[in-house]
Amino acid sequence: MDNAYVVPLADGVDWVGHVDWTVRDFHGYRTARGSSYNAYLVRGEKTALVDSVRAPYAGGLVGRVAALAPGGVIDYVVCNHAEPDHSGSLPAVMAAFPGAALVCNARCLEALSLHYDVSGWRTRVVSDGETLSLGGRTLRFLDTPMVHWPESMATYLQEDRILFSMDAFGQHIASSERFDDQLPLHEVVDAARTYYANIVAPHGRPVAAALGKLGVLGAATIAPAHGVAWRGHVGEIVGLYRDWAAAKARRKVVVLFRSMWGSTRAMATAIAEGAAAAGGVSVKLIDVTATHDTDTVTELMECAAFAAGSATLNQGMTPEMARTLCYVRGLKPRGKKGLAFGSYGWAEKAASAIDATLAEMGVERVSPPITSRFAPDAATLGKCRDAGGKLAEIALGA
Ligand code: FEO
Repeated sequence: MDNAYVVPLADGVDWVGHVDWTVRDFHGYRTARGSSYNAYLVRGEKTALVDSVRAPYAGGLVGRVAALAPGGVIDYVVCNHAEPDHSGSLPAVMAAFPGAALVCNARCLEALSLHYDVSGWRTRVVSDGETLSLGGRTLRFLDTPMVHWPESMATYLQEDRILFSMDAFGQHIASSERFDDQLPLHEVVDAARTYYANIVAPHGRPVAAALGKLGVLGAATIAPAHGVAWRGHVGEIVGLYRDWAAAKARRKVVVLFRSMWGSTRAMATAIAEGAAAAGGVSVKLIDVTATHDTDTVTELMECAAFAAGSATLNQGMTPEMARTLCYVRGLKPRGKKGLAFGSYGWAEKAASAIDATLAEMGVERVSPPITSRFAPDAATLGKCRDAGGKLAEIALGA
């Protein structure tokens, strides 16, 4: 689809970003549905471009802005976040609109200067809460540190009650639609959940702080930097963000495993069966070789308890389980309980290594690791089922 189109959010406020239909990787996050880099042109007596797009798509952005801006001129370029998916086109934008001043906070300017040659740019550094009048329209800048980087900021268009929220509330969705009420809600919420789990989750406390700050604004539209804007379901997504930021758990148990010859798989299945037998608990059994870590971490985000197991390979856990746990650990799951398990032949190494990794993650283990030398016997499978039941009890209390 041609990206050379614009979409109004309000009279004089237009989406001018880029839909990336084919991107499938975002530093390890599998973006199965593509994404968009959202930029917005706000026209008062003066004109501001809020955010920009990835470097390869700068030409399209510049063309759209030049066509829409009165006289082909803009006065301000607001940069809410220095990560290159939003700043990569700034060198081209600042060159195309030399009269425009880049507006950002001090930390953002420092980060930009470490990415690009900013020496020829006109800049205006703004502080938390500062406003900028466009004449008839007012932008208010609000620091939202760690959502998603330390320099991140949101911009609120006061008169139109539009919050340009940067990464927060985003979803990796490529679509011709630009609003939440133009797509099935479950698709947008699923994408927002996956986005939160893979991008925002490590920063739950800063997110809660940002929600408190942004909540007082009473935005009617939340326009993030990726995916569609929220206007039909603002209350729902803010409520979900509150739950996610608080690491609120659902009645859910996840069992992760990597097997070699079926022994660890049998243990995993018994744990999952034991959890399911408790009733009232959602149980997910995930073979980490068959599930992308993007989806695994999303499943883990709202679970109350989980188990992770691996066969022992070369005196350690399997590389696949190590990779998954490395990814999970980086996203800093909070408030989880769990257990390690696994099979071995001559030396038990995998389950104990997983147990140590869970401890490093801050996961409260509900029992010592469950291990099996080669194929699990009936007694070991019984232990696994009991452990599943224990995980389910925890989830039922969540
Ligand atoms: Fe979409 Fe943190 O960048």
